[in-house]
Amino acid sequence: MLENIKCVIFDLDGVVVDTAKYHYLAWKRLAEGFHISFTEKENENFKGVSRMACMDIICEMGNLKINQDLKINLANMKNEWYVEYINTLDQSEMFDNVKDFILELKKRGIKIALGSASKNARFILEKLEIKDLFDTISDGTRVKNAKPDPEVFLLAASDLNVNPENCLVIEDAKSGVEAAYNGKMRAIGIGDKDHLSQAEIVYSQASDMIGLLDLIKK
Ligand code: BG6
Ligand code: MG
Repeated sequence: MLENIKCVIFDLDGVVVDTAKYHYLAWKRLAEGFHISFTEKENENFKGVSRMACMDIICEMGNLKINQDLKINLANMKNEWYVEYINTLDQSEMFDNVKDFILELKKRGIKIALGSASKNARFILEKLEIKDLFDTISDGTRVKNAKPDPEVFLLAASDLNVNPENCLVIEDAKSGVEAAYNGKMRAIGIGDKDHLSQAEIVYSQASDMIGLLDLIKK
């Protein structure tokens, strides 16, 4: 049973909408331009991690010694590709059941927050026409520290005046599950059980989160 839950904080990419695959494609395009092999396996370390922190990982992987200006230019280029990929995004790319799940939580008086590292979060929520469902949006434009730092989740909780221990985070990234625990929140994982083993419950698919309705108590 998940008791005393007053707020559910959703990660965005890979939890609400299937955009994680576009981040993957854009990073892969950049990495392969430097002859760095980049598969789904490497991509796991990029999930939940801010754009510049991802850029640092690319530099490490390829042993690239480049200055900060070039790093920023390359990260901007990756973002331009990513934005191109998501330009035609619509509700059909939202995971099944997620909207119904949010609507039912709202009916029960549970607050809804977004806790995403992405600076594109608002743009995506607008495209999906679900921005108004969120009581607050904590995203990459508002925080300095990347997950597993809990800043993005703690900011959401403080916006809504809810104690961290009354927040439940839903995440597809290991760094995100860690961030939730670092902030003394509870965490549900979406994805691979072994990879997200720290989470209280792991669902293999985002659509399965609807099952939480039987477990969450206010
Ligand atoms: C997270 C993704 O949600 O946002 C990461 O899981 C991504 O892969 C991060 O790097 C930052 O996104 P953006 O859109 O600001 O580049
Ligand atoms: Mg994610």
